[in-house]
Amino acid sequence: MAKMYHREKSIQLKSSASALYNNLSVLRLAPRSLTHFAVVHANVVNLVSASWDGLNYSYRQLQSKEGNMATSSSLIMQAAWCVLPSRDLLVVASQKGIQMFESDGSIMVYWHALDTPETPTAKAIFARGMAAVKDKYICVGVSFGAVLVFDIPSKGSNITLSEVLEEHTEAVTDIGLECSGSAEYIADMVSADDSGLLCVWKSEGDFQLLNKIPGFDISCSSVKLWKGMVIAAYGTGQIRLYEGVTGILYAEINAHTRWIYSLDIAPFTGLLLSAAEDSFVRVWHLNTVPENNSVEIEHLYNECVTDTQICGAKFCDGDGYAFAVTGYDLSEIIRYTQA
Ligand SMILES: *[C@@H]1O[C@H](CO)[C@@H](O)[C@H](O)[C@H]1NC(C)=O
Ligand SMILES: *[C@@H]1O[C@H](CO)[C@@H](O)[C@H](O)[C@H]1NC(C)=O
Repeated sequence: MAKMYHREKSIQLKSSASALYNNLSVLRLAPRSLTHFAVVHANVVNLVSASWDGLNYSYRQLQSKEGNMATSSSLIMQAAWCVLPSRDLLVVASQKGIQMFESDGSIMVYWHALDTPETPTAKAIFARGMAAVKDKYICVGVSFGAVLVFDIPSKGSNITLSEVLEEHTEAVTDIGLECSGSAEYIADMVSADDSGLLCVWKSEGDFQLLNKIPGFDISCSSVKLWKGMVIAAYGTGQIRLYEGVTGILYAEINAHTRWIYSLDIAPFTGLLLSAAEDSFVRVWHLNTVPENNSVEIEHLYNECVTDTQICGAKFCDGDGYAFAVTGYDLSEIIRYTQA
C-alpha cells in the first residue's frame, strides 16, 4: 500500500488523553489560520491552538466546574466544538452537566446541571455526545438516554433548553449531524447509544424521529451522517453503513480487531477515518451510488501507532488532507499529512 500520509511533528499536551470515546476535537478554521485541538484528561480539557505553519502554539486548560463556583470538579466525558453559522462553541460534557464556552475557552456562556437522583443509583450520571444541528441547535446526549436540544442565539448567553428527545434507553454515546453541507437529504441528525441503537432525526421546528435502527447489544462508540448515510462504529471493531431513512444496511466492514473509539469523515472527499484500541488508524474511501442504492468502499491506508490504544482521531480539514490522533496515556497529538 502506498504511503499516503506522512507523520509530522507531534503537538505536546500538558496531560495525557483519557480512554474516552472520540477524545479529540479539532476546530477547522479557515486555511492559513489557527487550528484548535481539545483533548480530555480526567477533569481537565487540554486546549492547544496551533498556527498553520506549526511554529506557534498556545495552551489553555479548562476544569469542569459546577456553575461559576469552583467547587468539586467532576470527570469530563467529552469536549468538542459545535460549529453554528453565527458562532462556534466549545461544549464540555461531564458527570455534573454541560458547559458551553466561547470557542477559545476563555468565557463560559452557559451551564446546564444534570439532576442527580436523591438516592444514589448504580448507574453513573453524565453527559456525552454533542453536535450542532440546523443552524441554531446544539444537541447533547445524557446517560439516561435523553438527547437535550439547546436553542442557541446568534450571540449572547440566552441559551435555552428547548426540547428533550426521549427515544434511547441506554446512555447516549455520540451524535452526528448531516455533514455534507447539502440540504437535499431528509435526515439532519443521528444519535447512538451503549446498546448500539441508532435514532435518525429530522428537525423542522420540532425534532421528529425518522427511524430507529436496532443495535446488537454492543456499544456504538462513534456515529456520522453523510449524504443521508449513517456510518456507525462498534465495540466489535465493525463499521456499519446504513441508509438513514429506511435503515437498509449497505455494508458491514470488519475494520478493526478491537473496540473502535473514533470515526471521522471528510465531507468533501468521502474519506473516512477509523481508529481503535488495536493501535490502528485506517483511512477508507466512500462513494455513494444512488442509482444502485449502494455504496462503494475502498480501504486506502493504515497507520499503526505502536502500543497505543487510540481514543481520538479527526481530520484537520474537510478534504482529509491531514488528520490528528490521540491515544490513552499519550501526552501528545500525532499529526499526519498527505505525502
Ligand atoms: C431567551 O430566549 C428565549 C427562547 O429563544 C426567548 O423566549 C426569551 O425571550 C429570551 N430571553 C431574553 C431575556 O432575551
Ligand atoms: C450499478 O449496478 C450495475 C449492475 O450491477 C453495474 O453494472 C453498474 O456499474 C453499477 N453502477 C455504478 C455507478 O456503480
